[in-house]
Amino acid sequence: MIMDGNGRWATAHGLSRSAGHEAGLRTAREIVEAAVREQVGTLTLYAFSSDNWKRPTAEVTALMRLFRRAMLGEAKRCLENGVRLTILGRRDRLPASLRQTVDQVESLTASCTRMHLRVAVDYSARDAILRAAAAVRGEVISREHFTELLARVDQDDIPAREVDLVVRTGGEQRLSDFLLWECAYAELLFVEKMWPEFDADDLAEAMADFRSRNRRYGLAPEQVAS
Ligand code: FPP
Repeated sequence: MIMDGNGRWATAHGLSRSAGHEAGLRTAREIVEAAVREQVGTLTLYAFSSDNWKRPTAEVTALMRLFRRAMLGEAKRCLENGVRLTILGRRDRLPASLRQTVDQVESLTASCTRMHLRVAVDYSARDAILRAAAAVRGEVISREHFTELLARVDQDDIPAREVDLVVRTGGEQRLSDFLLWECAYAELLFVEKMWPEFDADDLAEAMADFRSRNRRYGLAPEQVAS
């Protein structure tokens, strides 16, 4: 999920950008619950890209506080619902208090298996690919091996799986450095609604749309049909 449009939604409603992110958090909660009901295996929420550090300091600080509050607030509910919560991305630049909370929530929910919720924070697919490529040292390796290296650079202990579906709200049609390697054959869905307006019905619609897609992975249509 590329959760775009909090700022524009807030401006359109005469609210501050922070209020937009608060509304975005409420949507994130609703979508996590809906995804569990829809039997999604792994849900990745793109919360903060490495390029988002360039935003005004006040907005970045407010977002880091919101992430910490969200993690603390959701830990118990994740545990009760069998949701494993981890973050994806660089950890070394996060505020120490957030890192500590992340460590706690990750250990608390480590044995949950109903759904894996990954929150991408300080995440850049290109930086992750560069770091994984540095570990290859000129060797020729398989796609599978590279996928594992990629997961390791972001401490994602489940090897990054192929992404099935990317949903981006907010009307823009781009990936913005999100899971570029893992999205090689992902189905893409761009939604006009701003993230705070997206709801469980929209998720169900997105999943129905996904199920209607014809995924060929480079094969000819008749090969897939047989
Ligand atoms: C993009 O909207 C949204 C963000 C950069 C922040 C996303 C964070 C949340 C939705 C809170 C969820 C938190 C957790 C822990 C899951 P934007 O600010 O780029 O909107 P704009 O394009 O309209 O300006």
